[in-house]
Amino acid sequence: MKLAPSILAADLADLAAAVAQCEAGGADLIHFDVMDGHFVPNLTFGAPVLAAVARRTALPVDVHLMVDDPGRLLDDYLDAGAGWISVHWETASHLDRLLARIRAGGARAGVALNPATPVELLTDVLPQLDFVLLMSVNPGFAGQPFLPYVLDKARRLRALVAERQLAVEIEMDGGLGAATIRDAVVAGAGVCVAGSAIFAHDDPVAAMGHLRQLAETSL
Ligand code: DX5
Ligand code: ZN
Repeated sequence: MKLAPSILAADLADLAAAVAQCEAGGADLIHFDVMDGHFVPNLTFGAPVLAAVARRTALPVDVHLMVDDPGRLLDDYLDAGAGWISVHWETASHLDRLLARIRAGGARAGVALNPATPVELLTDVLPQLDFVLLMSVNPGFAGQPFLPYVLDKARRLRALVAERQLAVEIEMDGGLGAATIRDAVVAGAGVCVAGSAIFAHDDPVAAMGHLRQLAETSL
């Protein structure tokens, strides 16, 4: 299991400390939530903030673009040092072209799906994907409760990927913590994002270790 702490839930006035905690806690990726105030009702980080975060760490930064018209911003985030980039299916009318641009820019290409968007819509594009991000809350905010029906989506997606013998990773994002991470991993999530479960905890480094232990004993 890859653990991807979401720094949206950290002290936003001290992102350098959040990055250092991710490294100390053994994170595999740093999850970076970009929200534009249009596709989702919240506004977060731009490309200059990504560049500042990427300069502070050797960990890949996993950029989750929750923005309308992601093609307009893609080059900025690639240039700013994104290691992984996901665009939302709901915003991407030319998904094939966007995915090619992400890979050509040297990043791993992903699609994010809102809870209500079925995984079967990705059947044809799976070979162009390095990962699929399944939202297990409605995108916009950290700290929302996990939507359990997304577990079935992970199982169905895992079967689609296995049938085609592809290496597409399944990332789950939203409401993951001690009570839910095990179910997510058993259902097929190989990459787990956690925001509040880590950064709202008194000891974020210990929280990362605990989540990893729960996830790995479930296998
Ligand atoms: C929500 C974001 C998530 C969020 C996760 O729109 O995409 O990455 O930060 O936070 P928690 O783990 O608190 O649900
Ligand atoms: Zn996210």
